[in-house]
Amino acid sequence: MTQKPRAGVIGNPIGHSLSPKLHGYWLRRYRLEGEYTAIQVVEDQLEARVRDLQAQGFAGINVTIPHKVNILQIADHVSDRATLIGAANTITFTDDGRIMADNTDAYGFMANLKQGAPAWDPKAGPAMIFGAGGAARAIIVALAEAGVPEIILTNRTRSKADALKNEFGQRVRVVDWVQADIALEDATTVINSTSLGMKGAADFKVPLDRLQSSATVTDIVYNPLRTPFLNAAEAKGCTTVDGLGMLLHQGVPGFERWFGQRPQVDEDTRRAILA
Ligand code: ATR
Repeated sequence: MTQKPRAGVIGNPIGHSLSPKLHGYWLRRYRLEGEYTAIQVVEDQLEARVRDLQAQGFAGINVTIPHKVNILQIADHVSDRATLIGAANTITFTDDGRIMADNTDAYGFMANLKQGAPAWDPKAGPAMIFGAGGAARAIIVALAEAGVPEIILTNRTRSKADALKNEFGQRVRVVDWVQADIALEDATTVINSTSLGMKGAADFKVPLDRLQSSATVTDIVYNPLRTPFLNAAEAKGCTTVDGLGMLLHQGVPGFERWFGQRPQVDEDTRRAILA
């Protein structure tokens, strides 16, 4: 008898991860034999614990903070996406004993944007990203691949935005955080990839007066679902897309690889996660 497929998410801390709820919901929805668990892994145990999960017969794992960059060193193969982004969130253990690292955050971002704003046109004009952390890297990769003509990047710490411009090239224009509100008038897509607006974090305070009403606006923050940033954009008439779908969609490729079923991200999925 073959063992039922097992997968999980590793990180530290791991208690707040929504991945077990998401994968658990999909396993029940599709009546699949399988198990998905949260596994706390401290930093200096990363390689030993990953090899142990592989030895136990796990099909794969999701990887979250603080291991998304270091996991690349353990992998036998790193996908082009994960190489570009410089981090991995989805690991698959192959039957012949290899550790395959991939990053599905760019996919998750784009799938969410397209689902939430079906009329969104990447070629309509520049996209503006607030923030220059790990999430911004995945979003830059997704937008560049979609054919966005220019990416306007702004970050409280300008040097991090400049570093991303050096890495990702000419299509990126950096503007100072204090002048971000002026650059907004050029943008047809606007993304908050900072933690501003998250429950317990500071508010997003950049004025949105110059935001075009025709712009599509999205946030990576999903707690609360409707952030003050999204509400302000909606009040201006913009199409807005909340951040929950990015989390849900990034889980799709891993679930399909490990459990053999491509899962849906729909209203039922959202309800199950928010319950
Ligand atoms: P993630 O992987 O989610 O992108 P991160 O790498 O820690 O997380 O990045 C957090 C982002 O939120 C950064 O762009 C950060 O700006 P700095 O590079 O200046 O730190 C931004 N951020 C966090 N708190 C902020 C604040 N109070 N004001 C402006 N930006 C903030």
